[in-house]
Formats: sequence, C-alpha cells, structure tokens
Amino acid sequence: MVQKHKVPFNLAYATGNELAYIEQAINEKHLSGDGRFTKNCHTWLEQKTGSKKALLTHSCTAALEMAAILADIQPGDEVIMPSFTFVSTANAFVLRGAVPVFVDVRPDTHNIDESKIEQAITKKTKAIVPVHYAGVACEMDSIMDIANRHNLIVIEDAAQGLMSFYKGRALGSIGHFAAISFHETKNIISGEGGALLINAPKFIERAEIIREKGTNRSKFFRGAVDKYTWVDIGSSFLPSDLIAAFLWAQMEQAEEITARRLEIWKSYHRKLSALQASHNIQLPYVPANCQHNAHMYYILLPDLEKRTACLKFLSENRINAVFHYIPLHSSPAGKKFGRVSGSMKITEDIGDRLIRLPLWIGMAEQEVETVADAINAYLLQQINCPQPVMKALI
Ligand SMILES: Cc1ncc(COP(=O)(O)O)c(C=O)c1O
Repeated sequence: MVQKHKVPFNLAYATGNELAYIEQAINEKHLSGDGRFTKNCHTWLEQKTGSKKALLTHSCTAALEMAAILADIQPGDEVIMPSFTFVSTANAFVLRGAVPVFVDVRPDTHNIDESKIEQAITKKTKAIVPVHYAGVACEMDSIMDIANRHNLIVIEDAAQGLMSFYKGRALGSIGHFAAISFHETKNIISGEGGALLINAPKFIERAEIIREKGTNRSKFFRGAVDKYTWVDIGSSFLPSDLIAAFLWAQMEQAEEITARRLEIWKSYHRKLSALQASHNIQLPYVPANCQHNAHMYYILLPDLEKRTACLKFLSENRINAVFHYIPLHSSPAGKKFGRVSGSMKITEDIGDRLIRLPLWIGMAEQEVETVADAINAYLLQQINCPQPVMKALI
C-alpha cells in the first residue's frame, strides 16, 4: 500500500488472532449477538474493570444512548458535561429531549472542572457525564460526592479510558454507568464497537431489555422465562459475535497493547519535554493518582495561528497530525440544543491550540523522532523568523 503520509496519524492494529476467531464463530454457526465471543468479552470487561455488568454494543455512541434511556432522561432534563468532547457525549441525551449544560474544563487535564459543576446544577439537572479525556481520569471523588449530595446519576464517558485507573480503580467502574469505545482509533478495537458498563446492579435487568429491542429475550435465553415479549422501549444495540470475535483477540493482548502504546507515549514525552520550557508549548499532564493508557499524545501550541501553521508544516513534511475538538457549545447543534454554565475560556483556548500527534502500535522509534524533529524545526523557525516562509524538511 502506498502511504500518502510518511507518518500516518493512525494505523489499525491487529494481533494476528482475529481471523482465526472469526472463523471459529463461523464454524460454530453463531453469528448474531451474545454468542461465545461476546460472553468472553463481557467476562473480561467485568474482571478487568470490576464493573458489575458489561454489555457489548455496536459503538460507544450506542452505549451512551442506552445510558440515557437507563437514566430515565426526559424532555427538558439537564445533563452536565464538558463542551470539549466528541459529539456523542451530548447527542445521546439530546435524542431523549434533554439539554446538555456545558461546563468548562481544567487547564491541566482538559477534563471537566469539578469545581464548576455545582454551580451548573438546577432543579432540572438529572445527570453528570464526566469524559476521561485522553484516558486520564476526571476527579471522580469530587464528582461522585456532588452527585450523591444532589441525587444525580453519573455516566462516565470512558470512550478513551479502558485500561486506565483513578486511585487504583478502573475508569468505567466508578459512576452508575460507563460507555467505552472500540472504534479503530482507540487502544483495544473492533473497527466500530463499544460497551456499556453498569455499576449499580438495580439497572442491569432493564439494560439487557433496552439492548434487546425492548424485549426480555436475554432472560428467555437464560431460561428464566418460558417466552419472551416486548416489555419496554429499546433498540438493537448488540453487535454480531463476529465483531466480538475480533474484539476478543484484542482483549487477550490488552496488557501488551497498553505497554507498547505507553512506550511510544513516553518517547514523545522525553523528546518534547526539552521544547516545553524553551518554546512555550504545553504537554499532557497526568495527575499522580491517575494511571493512564497512553490513548493519545498531544501538544498545545501558544495560539491558533501557530497551531494552524504547525499543522501545515507537519503536513508539508508528510506527517498526519490532527486537531480536535471544535467545542460543542460553539457548534450549530450545541447552540441549538445546549447551553453553557459560566465561562468557556479554557475550553475555547484548548480547542484553538491542541494538536494530536500520530500514535499507533508498530510506530517505530524513528517515526516518533521524525515527528518530534519536525515540531522542533517548526518551533525554531518561529524564533528565527516569526512570519516564516514554511519550508519542508524533505
Ligand atoms: C469522548 C468520546 N465519546 C464518545 C465517542 C464515540 O465513540 P464511538 O465512535 O465508539 O461511537 C468517542 C469517539 O471518539 C469519544 O472520543
């Protein structure tokens, strides 16, 4: 395959066992949901995270939509969340008629600023959705304390957080529910895919029903009822066992995958730390009580103009780096369906300055070096020639 980029942003990783497991699923003639491989994945997720119940879904988006139904979100309810996140965090609740209430993020981790949550709570508030950005935990003790005092449901958006920990507890196991993503840009993947984790046991039975089109089919398959029927609202949220077979091959190697990503993350961190002080760029911050999964490596340039110029320079050097997120509160749908609580200064600032660097398993030390060198070269041009004529390295 001819690569457009010398260093692509992401290359989907396969362990090598995926096809064999898919073939097994075909030979065993169970292709719909909840077959042997789905059960393997459920058990693995429950053991790894300590969550009471894991249910595979076809995406993290689907898991968030299930969580919104389970939390009994009604039209007009308010749901507190960061604006610096992917659209699904908000969309899942807007689909139920709720109003996302956006709260600013912390300048260090870019997670929701827990000190600003309480002032966003009104009589209509039903839930808080902390997003563990880059697999680094939100300040969950404070968030759970606020939720308990105000009787709110906490739904962790742990799309990026599998294999990360907060004070020794797995992300996804702390709130009432959590949503995980296995999209191909994540660490453990199945192309598209996700899971809902349920930590409050009273919700488990309804979650199974919602996931199975509003029927009690899961109970029927367990032999707990002699026929199944329509009992609640729901949809088809479960993936085929073929997807689960692929995912199982990844879960078996989750420790190795995380270790290899951490090596690349640390290599970036070593190489770019030297530039941090001299060039006014900001690197990721991981609080001492958080163990992260190396989901992403990013840098923050001093301002939007320099971010744009740096991305252009990297692109001219055939390095595919990207930016995100356009803050939800400033997007057309965010303006229509949501509202902000307080200032969005940090969110807007980060949204202007952040660049995500390439990070994928198989990325060679030389490729990390190439990216770091290109950033260094760009920053040197800035010093020598503040309005540089961009010249590619190659
Ligand atoms: C924070 C966050 N939430 C939700 C999602 C949605 O995940 P999926 O693509 O599996 O639906 C993503 C995906 O990138 C994400 O980063």
